[in-house]
Amino acid sequence: MPPVPSGLRRIGLCAAGILMLGLAAGLAQTPPPVPQDDVQRLYDRSCASCHGSDGKGRGPAADALTPAPRDFTRGMYKFRSTQSGSIPSDDDLDRAIAGGMPGTAMPAWKGMLTDSQITALVGYVKHFSPRFATDQPAPIKASQPVPPTPDSIDKGKAAFGALACGACHGDNGTGAGAVTAGMKDDWGNDIKAAVLNEPWTFRGGSTATDIYLRIKTGIDGTPMPSFADTASDQDIWNVANYVVSIARKPAWAMTADELKAFYEQQRKQDADDLVGRGRYLVDTMACAHCHSPVDRDGRVLPGLKYAGGQKMRLVVWGDVVSANLTSDNETGIGRYSDADLKRAMTRGIKRDESRMLPFPMDWPSFAHLSEQDQNAIVAFLRTIPPVKNQIPPPARPGVVAYLASKFQMLIGGKDYPIVIFEGNAGSAGSQGGNPAAAAR
Ligand code: HEC
Ligand code: HEC
Ligand code: HEC
Repeated sequence: MPPVPSGLRRIGLCAAGILMLGLAAGLAQTPPPVPQDDVQRLYDRSCASCHGSDGKGRGPAADALTPAPRDFTRGMYKFRSTQSGSIPSDDDLDRAIAGGMPGTAMPAWKGMLTDSQITALVGYVKHFSPRFATDQPAPIKASQPVPPTPDSIDKGKAAFGALACGACHGDNGTGAGAVTAGMKDDWGNDIKAAVLNEPWTFRGGSTATDIYLRIKTGIDGTPMPSFADTASDQDIWNVANYVVSIARKPAWAMTADELKAFYEQQRKQDADDLVGRGRYLVDTMACAHCHSPVDRDGRVLPGLKYAGGQKMRLVVWGDVVSANLTSDNETGIGRYSDADLKRAMTRGIKRDESRMLPFPMDWPSFAHLSEQDQNAIVAFLRTIPPVKNQIPPPARPGVVAYLASKFQMLIGGKDYPIVIFEGNAGSAGSQGGNPAAAAR
């Protein structure tokens, strides 16, 4: 390399220096605050579909979600570093928004939004509740962590028993033998206790310190109490260490033999709790999403969850109306045998022997359910209290309609059916508006 003349080198160094100074100044500068109008627009665009533009947690997508989106107007939050009943700190809210809530619909916004947008949203979320104007967050006094020695873990196991965590979380925290049905949160929604050996499902984090905070602060708005007054700090750390110690490997980290043993054990556990397994499957397979009638905003009509009657327009094919899955004898599945239900679910043949299209209800994929899972779904459906809701027989696409549809698809180039949910106005005969399109 030819030597660089010293004059040029000096200029180069100067330029680099100026650049560095500029960079340092840029770093030191706090990002400009996001203007209020923009925050509102940002909130309406990113958050309102679930949390509602009024912050009440009743956005159009809310009904299909378990757990339900947070109602910001109450100023009550689950994952805090503050005492039971206290408002959360700004950091707590920041963490919830940036990190999201694994296992729920709440997305992690870090990466999708800038840090200053997230900070602005913390302020915006707070403005929905007057509590933030009057109260101060009351942080807990956290003691020094206890190292996770075998002795601490043993003591934690004993304390886990003494504090009756197992009543809700099951023997050894695995969910087996726990109260799984009938728990409600303060908003009246069904809620399940966490499965404590699956730490990747924890929404508040899975380190000993995170778990210490959950036990110490409780999860406000849910049955999970604070143990700040009932357990010594030492014991809370021991229990936290114990909970960390029982973590099982996630399926994606298991060897083939471990997986086999795991599924075998899982199958046994599900067999002991068919209804619980069925509830889980029905929740995750979103049966309620189609089998409950919704209003124009996509909200389930009160008292009609699972009662059917939701009209879906299959573009090209015509309309279908979902069935009543409640145990009503006349209008629901009360008189269906288990075999009737399983046949409808997995082969698309209804009790009246008529055949369903393979859409919108995806029975061809339900056909892959194990016999035990089919039984579990049936067992859960049988627990749904009867609701009288007569579903009109479908206007079957006759041969002419079928051929016309095929013609539109093949020659007219219209695509595979598009399913459009029609909102009911709540009274018979009126036209639905604002249909939420669910294309597949
Ligand atoms: C797809 C639906 C959805 C969207 C979109 C969504 N959330 Fe959520 N959010 C949820 C659900 C569901 C929960 C409740 C989780 C739970 O109870 O475990 C939640 C909870 C929260 C919480 C409460 C955390 C706590 O500790 O109690 C905050 C704060 C929050 N969301 C803020 C936001 C903000 C801000 C946005 C927009 C940037 C947003 N959410 C967008 C579904 C959503
Ligand atoms: C009365 C029932 C009940 C008792 C007793 C109880 N819990 Fe919970 N716990 C719950 C419920 C319900 C949830 C789920 C809350 C939710 O989904 O928002 C939960 C959630 C948790 C979580 C997960 C938090 C997260 O980040 O998602 C942990 C960890 C936990 N509990 C630990 C414990 C320990 C340890 C004890 C005993 C010291 C205990 N719980 C006692 C009902 C209970
Ligand atoms: C994407 C929408 C959708 C989903 C999801 C869905 N279904 Fe359906 N289901 C329908 C529609 C529409 C019908 C009526 C079809 C017809 O009449 O041709 C139906 C019919 C049925 C029937 C037939 C009842 C009879 O009259 O014989 C049963 C049983 C059923 N569904 C159970 C379920 C279960 C259980 C789940 C969840 C595992 C589920 N469905 C998920 C849309 C759906």
